[in-house]
Amino acid sequence: MAHWTTNTNHLPTPCYLIDEEKLAQNLNRIKTLKNATDCQIILALKGYATTKTFAQLKDVLDGVTASSIYEARLGLEEFEGSVHVHSIAIDEDEYHQYNAMASHISFNSIKQAKRFKEINNAMNASLGLRINPKTSQAPTEKYDPCSKYSRLGIPIEQITEKDLEGIDGLHFHALCEQNVGPLITILNKIEQNLGDQLSTLKWMNWGGGHLLTDDNYELEILIKEINRWKTTYNLQVILEPGEAIGRHCGYYVTRILDIIENHKKIAICDISATAHMPDVLEYPYRPEILNAGKENEKKENYIIGGNTCLAGDIVGTYSFDDKLNINDTLIFEDMGHYTIVKTSNFNGVKQPAIGMISTSGNIKIHKVSSYFNFKERLS
Ligand SMILES: Cc1ncc(COP(=O)(O)O)c(C=O)c1O
Repeated sequence: MAHWTTNTNHLPTPCYLIDEEKLAQNLNRIKTLKNATDCQIILALKGYATTKTFAQLKDVLDGVTASSIYEARLGLEEFEGSVHVHSIAIDEDEYHQYNAMASHISFNSIKQAKRFKEINNAMNASLGLRINPKTSQAPTEKYDPCSKYSRLGIPIEQITEKDLEGIDGLHFHALCEQNVGPLITILNKIEQNLGDQLSTLKWMNWGGGHLLTDDNYELEILIKEINRWKTTYNLQVILEPGEAIGRHCGYYVTRILDIIENHKKIAICDISATAHMPDVLEYPYRPEILNAGKENEKKENYIIGGNTCLAGDIVGTYSFDDKLNINDTLIFEDMGHYTIVKTSNFNGVKQPAIGMISTSGNIKIHKVSSYFNFKERLS
């Protein structure tokens, strides 16, 4: 582990840190994919949107995908690439703003597509439809856009040739932290259902949920599949990962404020699971802490708890080689994605600072939040 981890005492806590070297490693893998396929890779801002790293990302990625007006504007102002938009339901007022900012807009229903095609014949954006391939592959129902009664995308069997008039592309998002196998299953289903109609398209967006930057991701298979779609249907393949970009790049440094006992030892930290790392409770999952083990794996067990009044504001039980002390810092790993974008001020807790770890191991803090950020949000 890098030298910076031994020098966390001076950091403002809680604090997210993004490791620029690890980000570069992820980007190298994306570069390999792009070079072999000429596909477009855009950043899903909903998962990772640390603007201070955009300069590094822009060298490799083609733009962003936005799910709201604010994300679209952020992408336009900060990323300088194409801005793809997919919002579940767009209202008329927003549509004009999107049309001024977006390079691509994918509608979630035939009704929305018809309505906005009629409103605006001076369309700037390339238009697409989000389809629901009706092939459940995601590991849990909560994260499965193909689940029964899903509101995400047009059920694939409902799409007619007429619906594709004036439409340049199709979009789907149906994966969650997955390798290439489930993607191939979905693509097969789409080919079976839409067949020749696919040749009328200019582009096809295969969504996010691909763990492209993990060592065990079968990149060669993906490369073959993208190239097959390119030659068979003569279309541009687009992928919009969020997690894969920020994966293994982020840390979350916290300080122990108190240690109490109630049958078990409880270390209360200056964090909140619900306000700073909500996926721990929602997903749910258990983040790793540097140099800690599972319960009973090492000598000293502690429940790691947050500093809000929510009874369930608990990250989990961890074990350590030595006893913990007040003012010790703990470092959570893999905290770059779906954390910084999701924080809240619940209970009036501080927003974590945000900093970068340079390739030489130096840490620079770019943002420290204040009372005014909290107050401004409330009225
Ligand atoms: C439409 C869409 N595209 C892309 C993504 C990014 O997915 P991931 O961060 O898992 O790659 C999501 C995530 O929910 C999404 O809903």
